[in-house]
Amino acid sequence: MAAADTLAFRGTFFHTPTYGQLEALRDAVVVVKDGRIARIAKAEEEAAVLRDFGLSEARRLKYKFTGTGTDVPLMDWLKKYTFPAECSFQDIEAARQRYALLVKRFLANGTTTAMYYGSLHLEPNTVLVDTIERLGQRAVVGKVNMDRHSPDNYVEATQDGLRDAEAFIQYTLGRKCSRIQPCITPRFIPTCTPELMKGLAELARKYGTHIQSHISECCGEVNCVREMHPEYASDAAVFEEMGLLTSRTVMAHGTLLSDDDIRHLASRGTAVSHCPLSNFFLGDAFFKVNHALSLGLKVGLGTDVAGGISPSMLSAQRMAVVNSRCLRAHKLAVSGGTTVTPEMEKDVITFKEALWLATVGGAQALDLADRVGTFEEGKEFDALLVDTTLGGTDGPFDVFPGEDDLERFEKFINLGDDRNLLEVYVQGVCVKRGDIFELEASVL
Ligand code: GUN
Repeated sequence: MAAADTLAFRGTFFHTPTYGQLEALRDAVVVVKDGRIARIAKAEEEAAVLRDFGLSEARRLKYKFTGTGTDVPLMDWLKKYTFPAECSFQDIEAARQRYALLVKRFLANGTTTAMYYGSLHLEPNTVLVDTIERLGQRAVVGKVNMDRHSPDNYVEATQDGLRDAEAFIQYTLGRKCSRIQPCITPRFIPTCTPELMKGLAELARKYGTHIQSHISECCGEVNCVREMHPEYASDAAVFEEMGLLTSRTVMAHGTLLSDDDIRHLASRGTAVSHCPLSNFFLGDAFFKVNHALSLGLKVGLGTDVAGGISPSMLSAQRMAVVNSRCLRAHKLAVSGGTTVTPEMEKDVITFKEALWLATVGGAQALDLADRVGTFEEGKEFDALLVDTTLGGTDGPFDVFPGEDDLERFEKFINLGDDRNLLEVYVQGVCVKRGDIFELEASVL
């Protein structure tokens, strides 16, 4: 194919001329002659632009901060990206648009049930509940609470936080939607006073709600909690004292939980949401799934967007497998040898176990195991219609001679994405068919 004589491209061009440094050529025009870059100019200096790579406003809206800050520690990431992003949801119209995109994106990726951290202010959380209800997803939703060590413009007074948490519970229960449950959400120990945590635990008892928070996530967080609460040996001990470890509690991460902590959580019926992708970025350690299960802990799988960079539970499953194999590799490296022992193998999980974590494990963690997680008579019908003949560059998947349906299914887990999902069902209702931007029309 012959290159056109002269082309000009306008946009922002990213490259890495120096190892470790990312450079942006902003609003530049790159003029290409006979296939080579002839000139790079500022946009205003170059009149003839044949192709504008700038994004339309609709596309700009799509991602807030998912996929950014993958190179900074948790505490910095929260301050720089998470808190401002959540704070901006006070603009209710923006919250409406963003939450609709978020829920649609999860549905398009086949997430039939999600556990959401909303934001601090009451109203955007009610928008999230309304959005989930309208779009047909199943969810546990929490209004985030934080009354200290937070930005001045993104913090609540303890009593206001408790009042709004109760109002949120009442609002959500008042919807009488059997798919949506409210959740008590002390963000994590560093941003919550004991008074707030105890008050929230009281609300959880009063209304029988779920509880969610982040536990023993990374060294920065754990060390901060040790300094703030030297009287307690661990995050788990703090949460226990506050009354937040119940059989309806789901704690995210838990990479630095000790065996005693895990046994303690298990004795309370508390679950951990294993978020392998975000643990790689924001955590410092491995969560050992098989070890935790062997100690009796309930474990489900999470994407943790935006801490994780993919909204896809298929991706989370693959990452859970990779995480477990990294653990084995780590043990082998520490041994200094070339023999993989049965002890090292113990931590490895297969795609089947990852799928169990994403379905049955998640259902158990959310107290939904009698309703969803498997195909059994009497359970509600949450399902994905998968077509392995569809796909882009990763699919359609070749079929090898003698391939059976189990192997084809394994390929879907390992290679598939939203393009393979023809339809998504929650409670027997099709909540995704075709393009997600047509979704509302199909559900309503
Ligand atoms: N710890 C406290 N807040 C957060 C959050 O929003 N995401 C993650 N991954 N960890 C946290």
